[in-house]
Amino acid sequence: MKKLIRDNVLRIEQYEPGMPVEVLKRELAIEGEFSNLASNENPLGPSPLAINAIKKSLENGNLYPDNRCYYLKEKIAEHLGVPSKNLGVGNGTTELIYLIGVAFLNPGETFIMSESSFIMAKIIAQIMDNKLIEVPLKEYRHDLNNILRKITSDTKIVYFDNPMNPIGTVVAQQEFSMFMEKIPEDIIVVFDEAYYEYVNSKNFPNTLRFIEEGRNVIVLRTFSKMYGLAGFRVGYCAAKEEFIDAINRVSPPFSVNRFAQIGAVAALKDKTFIERTKEMNESGKKYLYENFEKMSVFYIPSETNFVTIDVKKGTKRIFEELQRKSVIVRPLTMYGKPTFLRVTVGTPEQNRRFIEAFKQVYKD
Ligand SMILES: Cc1ncc(COP(=O)(O)O)c(C=O)c1O
Repeated sequence: MKKLIRDNVLRIEQYEPGMPVEVLKRELAIEGEFSNLASNENPLGPSPLAINAIKKSLENGNLYPDNRCYYLKEKIAEHLGVPSKNLGVGNGTTELIYLIGVAFLNPGETFIMSESSFIMAKIIAQIMDNKLIEVPLKEYRHDLNNILRKITSDTKIVYFDNPMNPIGTVVAQQEFSMFMEKIPEDIIVVFDEAYYEYVNSKNFPNTLRFIEEGRNVIVLRTFSKMYGLAGFRVGYCAAKEEFIDAINRVSPPFSVNRFAQIGAVAALKDKTFIERTKEMNESGKKYLYENFEKMSVFYIPSETNFVTIDVKKGTKRIFEELQRKSVIVRPLTMYGKPTFLRVTVGTPEQNRRFIEAFKQVYKD
């Protein structure tokens, strides 16, 4: 009898998203407010300009959206200073990662990424039956020299999440410029910059310049984090025209819905919301750092909207007890870091509740 399911499909590591608060409340029989600090969402909600624009457009919900996201691409093009022919839009960056896999990866080719990088990259490599090489981090950052050493003629994609999720660190412009000089021309480098808008580092790479220079680079960004549109699902990529065309060819029609497109156009203009989000995130991170220092908890300084800590022991008990105190964080076992927890920076009240609960469960 022939096998019906592809072997590699059975080897795919499944992504375990955080459980929706409604489900947890029911399972744990807990009423009241939860501090959901597990999924790096914007704790201020969606951009108010996006909400207004979406509300106004609801009556057009009977109409299919613009398949090519013309207007949104025009606005992103203006925002980035990149021609819109070099842009693609997807149902979240997650979909774009899938589409990149489907468009570019042949079975048996090699996909290189760092250990503890965003797990969706690993999953697409497994879906496409690629040989996956995961390179250990060096001091919690991508180890570019070691990655270069792993490249062979079979390598098709090197994926970087910069900033890294779930680690929160970045690699600077100079290091990537050197990397790009050394990497063979026939390899695609994906820079997933989902947390780009939160970065403070002055040396953060301008990866769009690699595209201007004609390099085989794809840059990914999202409206899920800073713009607060995770539930609407919209992300974009920038790359050479030929790559955008390949990604469009494998994209399901209408995958970016009407409201996501309209919300994203409005959110791009919402300077006040972006400022508020940034300020709250920075002061929230400072508050978390100060408290971790007081408790002598090891944390990794972050360029994102989350902070990752090492509790130096299995995280199961702490995670479960935090949940019982209505605080949800993300254990990093699935990222090969069984003693680490990732905490999204929340509102001041959510952060305070997390720290209070954490103080009680950490020392026990
Ligand atoms: C590095 C990275 N890339 C992509 C995504 C997915 O973003 P989206 O909501 O646009 O699919 C995330 C989400 O957490 C992420 O951390």
